[in-house]
Amino acid sequence: MTTSSPTDSPARTGAARWVRPELQGIPPYTLDLTPCRFKLDQNECAWELPRPVRLRVAEGLVDAAWGRYPDFHGDALREALARRWNWPAEGILVGNGSNELLGVVLDALAGPGRSVLGADPTFGLYRRMIQRTGATPNFLPPRPDLRIPRQELRREILESPERPVLLCSPNNPTGDALAVEEVEALLEPLQGPLLLDAAYQEFGEADYRPLLDRFPNLVLFGTFSKAWGLGGIRLGYLLAQPDLVAALLAVKLPYNVGHAAVLAGLGALEAQSAVQRRIAATVALRLRWSQMLQRHGLEVFPSRANFLLVRVAGGTPASTRLFEELEARSIRVRNVAHYPGLAGCLRISIGSSLALRAVDRALGAIDSGRPRPERREVS
Ligand SMILES: Cc1ncc(COP(=O)(O)O)c(C=O)c1O
Repeated sequence: MTTSSPTDSPARTGAARWVRPELQGIPPYTLDLTPCRFKLDQNECAWELPRPVRLRVAEGLVDAAWGRYPDFHGDALREALARRWNWPAEGILVGNGSNELLGVVLDALAGPGRSVLGADPTFGLYRRMIQRTGATPNFLPPRPDLRIPRQELRREILESPERPVLLCSPNNPTGDALAVEEVEALLEPLQGPLLLDAAYQEFGEADYRPLLDRFPNLVLFGTFSKAWGLGGIRLGYLLAQPDLVAALLAVKLPYNVGHAAVLAGLGALEAQSAVQRRIAATVALRLRWSQMLQRHGLEVFPSRANFLLVRVAGGTPASTRLFEELEARSIRVRNVAHYPGLAGCLRISIGSSLALRAVDRALGAIDSGRPRPERREVS
């Protein structure tokens, strides 16, 4: 057995040397998963689906044929999503989270020698998913206001109209969202595909679905992990032209969603009115969270999602301190200060009223424990 010191590159020694060289530099995805009292770092739904809904799904699972494979592509769920979105089931794919489907689409459309246009700061997994295919991420730098760079993206598209584009709207981690007309302005000159990750669409106003009727190059991703409260089940979907989906069915592995995910997805769709109430509650709470965070002197960016990006005066040392002080009170938020353009920033999921009060109290205690500059000057 070879031993290695922590400074050795694990990719160069032992069995890891067989990993393709272009993948060896990709850092592992890590997150603190130890228990905490208020978990506000993964933009999950603040509430579980109602218990009767979960019980119905569980009963369905008990009666399912565990020993039998599911069908290849989760067809019952594709049909249900077709009804929800008024889009043909042949133009829908379901997957083990939308991340899986993003990987499938990038495998099919990107690859060595190609590049994908995007914009920083955005969802951290995009870069690694593009690199995994052997393609290069061409991400525009952050704007000072951290908004999605609409004009700059359009200019890039006019210059290289064939290049695939990958965008997130509402954007994680900033919360900024493109209006439907703004997406249209990008699609018009684009000859390649636009992969639009709408994981947080339910919390915003824009409905991008009608664009599919007019733009065959749009691929729209959705997830059950956020508004639908199924993060632990792993379920996502995409809507695209049926001929593209037919080609993707050959790239995607069969049986990628099992009985449990299909049943949970169907159960969630049937519980749409309860889900709608939770979305409305989250949007109402978003305003209260924003006001509370501002009262504590944090800069809060406008958000159309179920999270808020905040900037702490004093930059990354101050935001890291605040992150640690919240963590010490069992409140876990996401430290995003290392993302491009996000020095001094934290991302906070919209939690319940209980979580809001806990964070309010914690910030009050942290504020009052902090030496005030004015006082120091006097003494
Ligand atoms: C922008 C974005 N897309 C996709 C996902 C993941 O979705 P899923 O759980 O469906 O894989 C996330 C999760 O945080 C996200 O923020």
